[in-house]
Amino acid sequence: MPSARLGAAESITRALCIGEQPMVLVRTVTGLERLAAAELTAANHRVIDLSKRQLIVEPTSATIVTNPPRLADDLFIVQAAVTDPGRTRAALTAAVNSLDLRGCPPGRLAVSASFQGTRNYNRFDVEDLVGEAVQRLAGSRYHSRRNGTAPPTERVDWRVVLDGTTMWVGVRPFDVPLHRREYRRHTVTGSLHPPVAAAMARIANIGEGHRVVDPFCGAGTLLLEAQAIAPSATYLGIDKATIAAARANTADHAPIHWRTGNARALAGQFDRIVTNPPWDVRLGIGDLAPYLNQWRRVLKPDGLVVAILNHEQAARMIGDTAWRIHDVYDVAVAGQHPRILVAEPARPRRSTPAAAARCPVAR
Ligand SMILES: C[S@@+](CC[C@H](N)C(=O)[O-])C[C@H]1O[C@@H](n2cnc3c(N)ncnc32)[C@H](O)[C@@H]1O
Repeated sequence: MPSARLGAAESITRALCIGEQPMVLVRTVTGLERLAAAELTAANHRVIDLSKRQLIVEPTSATIVTNPPRLADDLFIVQAAVTDPGRTRAALTAAVNSLDLRGCPPGRLAVSASFQGTRNYNRFDVEDLVGEAVQRLAGSRYHSRRNGTAPPTERVDWRVVLDGTTMWVGVRPFDVPLHRREYRRHTVTGSLHPPVAAAMARIANIGEGHRVVDPFCGAGTLLLEAQAIAPSATYLGIDKATIAAARANTADHAPIHWRTGNARALAGQFDRIVTNPPWDVRLGIGDLAPYLNQWRRVLKPDGLVVAILNHEQAARMIGDTAWRIHDVYDVAVAGQHPRILVAEPARPRRSTPAAAARCPVAR
């Protein structure tokens, strides 16, 4: 996870000490809002609002930036919030002029904005108005993105969201977006977005001593996120192509073993299967049935599968009577709309005396 900028944690602690309540804007992948809220609540922060791709959080300590949520896509400390000005540019200008931006961090800055609904201005209008206001008030240097020029690397990133109710203005307390992971130096075709992998690891509820396998491990994102969340389990990642990327992404001594192998021929017994088979977009695997049979064979009776599948694959697994589906999460990631399925092996139905009488061979 990226580390917090100098002073970011201290500013939260200071505000809390003098009885002010800081607010944090958390952005998520579509479909992970509730799971991200659960992660923040478990860390003792208060989630006060939840909408599509966004949570508003009252942190109870600076841990929100020193140990930030793994399921969040990004996170910003709110500097100002006013009523969403609605569709006209004149109202937007008035709203920006009313923002109290005293005490904002100095230095070079860039702004990125988004809004819901129809407006008679575009995102660059919002960005330039806010960026120029901060430049005026804080003596910072604003770099517009309007002409496609990339802002300098050394900068503070501001975020503006007009969500239909409120205009939120926040500052990222990290140098890079929260979804960037330091360990991820290598990726493969189809590598998973880390916050989605973290969500799957969280859903899997991995316990101490569990044996966890990912039979389509690629660059290892799923198991690396799982290991960060549940360090006292043991992990095996298998891929038919190279596992060099996964190896290179793994810290020395991490309890993760990477092996070249075929997901059609698994061996061993596992408490959890956490996996991301190819979705037949850039990489193909065809029918999921042979793989489902393998999962069924190597999973312990009380084991759990958490798999991110395309809609056809998900329908295949949901329709397979060998599985009892616990949950389905619809997410939007990498321009796709996969489903995260949580399933356990269906237990064979116990034979009733009447059924046994109808089927003498069973006796
Ligand atoms: C979608 S990628 C997984 C990406 C991974 N979750 C990550 O974040 O890097 C699917 C992987 O499955 C592997 N694969 C495809 N067919 C396989 C098979 N029969 N056995 C094992 N691995 C297979 C591919 O080589 C690819 O690396």
